[in-house]
Amino acid sequence: MSEQLFVNKHASRKEKYQTLIPQLKALLDNESDTIANMANTVAALKQTFNFYWVGFYIVKRNELVVGPFQGTIACSRISWGKGVCGTAWKEKRTVIVPNVNLFAEHIACDSASLSEIVVPIFYKNEVIAVLDIDSQYENYFDETDAEFLGLIADIIKNKL
Ligand code: SME
Repeated sequence: MSEQLFVNKHASRKEKYQTLIPQLKALLDNESDTIANMANTVAALKQTFNFYWVGFYIVKRNELVVGPFQGTIACSRISWGKGVCGTAWKEKRTVIVPNVNLFAEHIACDSASLSEIVVPIFYKNEVIAVLDIDSQYENYFDETDAEFLGLIADIIKNKL
């Protein structure tokens, strides 16, 4: 396992994802524990992009329960269909919210968050967790994030 994460601070966001993904695969390669892998994934994302909040919510019974994250304290539980996270779970798709104040379902755990992306993680066609990232800037996430975070969700999925 590589103990150090290389981050080129001057690279574009796409290039940062391209540099991160092989390192993340190597980091998770010999570890089968999902929580350990989620924890290192959020740490690597935080270290690379300095996102305001990055973490996992894990499906437990009929709710999402907060899992490993980096950032300010967060809501512990989110119901199916509620918030951006619950919407991504219900609709089984990545949801990008450019301005959380204009998204009726948004759950404000921290009023500093202005935009958000939530990527579902599947096991046998069922959502078993979501990766949630918040930014303090409006309109911060786009299709590049959706594409590469989807690849990161697949890395976690393939370890299940
Ligand atoms: N805003 C999220 C709740 C989780 S926090 O952002 C950490 C939502 O609407 O689902």
